[in-house]
Amino acid sequence: MVSLKTALLTLASVVAVNADWHVAFTYADGGQITSHGFVNSGCVNFSKTNSDIVTVYFENNINTDTLELYHQQGCKALAYTAGPGSSNVPDQRYFSYRVY
Ligand SMILES: *[C@@H]1O[C@H](CO)[C@@H](O)[C@H](O)[C@H]1NC(C)=O
Repeated sequence: MVSLKTALLTLASVVAVNADWHVAFTYADGGQITSHGFVNSGCVNFSKTNSDIVTVYFENNINTDTLELYHQQGCKALAYTAGPGSSNVPDQRYFSYRVY
């Protein structure tokens, strides 16, 4: 019989391996946008562009280690490349991002 401890450890590792990546974008006006996913995000246009982004938080997972911010929609004009963790990006308008 499988012990409860073994079952819980197995469950914990399955959860970790299947964990999503998470991003949080904080704006100068206090607004925040969050998103998450499991595989590459593809190019995502920001739904909020009326304020500068000042901080990004990126929690990566097994499929991802990079977050890119772009000055234009459609992931054109690469502006900033961030790794996992919290980054103080240049306070500017960003119009799209990609996680991969
Ligand atoms: C993002 O915006 C660009 C330019 O307006 C557009 O071509 C593209 O389809 C948009 N991407 C998504 C995922 O909506």
